[in-house]
Amino acid sequence: MPDQYAVIGNPVEHSLSPRIHAQFARATGQALTYRRILAPRDGFREAVLAFRAAGGKGLNVTLPFKHEAWRLAGARNGYALAAGAVNTLSFDGENVVGHNTDGIGLVRDLTHNLGVAVRGTRVLLMGAGGASYGVMEPLLREQPERVVVANRTLEKAIELVGHFEKLQSCAPQGLSARSYAALAGAQFDIVINATSAGLEGAMPAVTESVLAPGALAYDMVYGRRTPFLEFAQPRGARVSDGTGMLVEQAAESFFIWRGVRPETAPVIAELRKA
Ligand code: ATR
Repeated sequence: MPDQYAVIGNPVEHSLSPRIHAQFARATGQALTYRRILAPRDGFREAVLAFRAAGGKGLNVTLPFKHEAWRLAGARNGYALAAGAVNTLSFDGENVVGHNTDGIGLVRDLTHNLGVAVRGTRVLLMGAGGASYGVMEPLLREQPERVVVANRTLEKAIELVGHFEKLQSCAPQGLSARSYAALAGAQFDIVINATSAGLEGAMPAVTESVLAPGALAYDMVYGRRTPFLEFAQPRGARVSDGTGMLVEQAAESFFIWRGVRPETAPVIAELRKA
C-alpha cells in the first residue's frame, strides 16, 4: 500500500492540499495517497494518533489546530519552535515531530516566484494572529531593513514583537509594532496582509500612503481578489495573492516527508488557471 498522508482541519473540505500533493506525487514519481481528515474541534489529538496508528506517515495541519499541533508535537523542528504553531507533522516511530513551513513558503514565493529581494527593504506586516507568528522568523532572516507589525488590536502586535525580539536566531533590530493610524507618513516596499479580513470581504485600515513607489502588496489569502489587493493595484502597487505561498509551503512539507523537492511553478500556474 502506498504511504498515506492527509490534511487535518475543521472545516477542511475547501483545502487545496490534496490536489497540490497529488500533482507533486505524479511529477516526482512518488507513490503516496493524500486525503482530507475532518477532526472534531475537541478531537484533534485522537484523530492524529488514530491516523498514525493506521500507518499514516505525515499530516498537514490547518485551522483551527495549528497551535494544538504545536503542543502535541514531542519535538519541534526549525521555525516551528518560535512560531508556536505547526502546519506539518511527521512521525518518527512513536515520536510526533512538528514543523512550520508557512514562513519558508512566503519567503520563497516573494524571492523566487515574484523576484522580490527582501534584504534591505521596509516591510509592513498587517495582522498579529497565527499567520503572522508563522512567517515572522523566516522573514526576519532575510534581513529586511525593518519590519513594522500593524494590528487593529495594538496589544497583540506589541506582544508579537516582544516574542520575536527575544529570539537569538534572527536579527530583529528593526522590528516594531504600530496601530494602523500611527502608520501615517511611513512608506513600505513590501506590504503583507496576514489578517483574515479578506475572507470576510474587508481590509485593514491602511491608507495608500504606506505604499512606496513600486511596492509589492501581498495578501496571504488565496484564490480571490481581496479588498486589499483591489485597493492597492490602482494605486500603483504590484499585487499578489497567497497562491504561491500555499504551493511553496506544501512543497516544503513534501520535502520533509519524502526528501524530494517538487517543482512548484506548474502547480501554481494550474491553480491560478482554475
Ligand atoms: P490567524 O491565526 O488565522 O491569523 P487570528 O489569530 O484570529 O487568525 O488572527 C486574525 C488576524 O486578522 C488578527 O490580527 C485580526 O486583528 P485583531 O487582532 O485586531 O482581531 C486580523 N483581522 C481580522 N479581521 C480584520 C479586519 N476586518 N480588519 C483588520 N484586521 C482584521
